[in-house]
Amino acid sequence: MELQQAIEKRHTVRRFTAQEISPEILRELVRRAGMAPSINNTQSWKFIVVTNKPLIAELSACVHKRIHQLFSDTGKENLLKTVDHFSTVFEQAPAVIFVATQPYKAIADDLHSVTISHEALNEMRRHPDLQSVGAAVQNLLLSAVDLNLGSCWLSGLMVARIELEKLLHIEKPWELVTAVAIGQPAGEAKAKERKPVEEILELIA
Ligand SMILES: Cc1cc2nc3c(=O)[nH]c(=O)nc-3n(C[C@H](O)[C@H](O)[C@H](O)COP(=O)(O)O)c2cc1C
Repeated sequence: MELQQAIEKRHTVRRFTAQEISPEILRELVRRAGMAPSINNTQSWKFIVVTNKPLIAELSACVHKRIHQLFSDTGKENLLKTVDHFSTVFEQAPAVIFVATQPYKAIADDLHSVTISHEALNEMRRHPDLQSVGAAVQNLLLSAVDLNLGSCWLSGLMVARIELEKLLHIEKPWELVTAVAIGQPAGEAKAKERKPVEEILELIA
């Protein structure tokens, strides 16, 4: 598939058929994710692919629980339902790819500056570690389109990061950053409107 076609065809899929995804396809998705650029080519990422249904149910249950702990005292029932729904759309997906990262070493870290810590430098640079993960996730999403699969990028579930890390055996220095639900789309999803390019482009010539 042409890159332009994959970019224009991609949209978030939140409903999936029960059809399983082969280990070969999942491996290929992760291989392509790993082709993404990363800060200092550190490739500080790990992709934990879960197809085990009871585990997916367990992961989803702890997100439901955490969302209710965090928001049920607000009295905004409808909002709570919406947040709960969008944070757990992965529960019916045949595969969920969790992405973890570990601290990277930038070239500038070797300057051993006494005034700037690694964390401060990372913040100043607007989190190149997370930007690198974003690039890898976009590779995943576009590759899913190319392989006739649907996907949903997931950040809502991160409210239960500690619980999810325990269930997925993610230990320091690794940290869970995000996840992607993958599967065969069930029905057509509506493509989202996009701002016209004139609105988002500022050309400084
Ligand atoms: C960083 C990020 C986090 C997202 N987290 C969620 C999520 O937790 N749940 C969800 O249903 N969609 C999530 N989405 C999907 C967005 O809602 C979706 O990309 C957006 O509405 C645009 O729609 P489109 O992907 O179909 O173009 C996320 C997207 C991004 C980029």
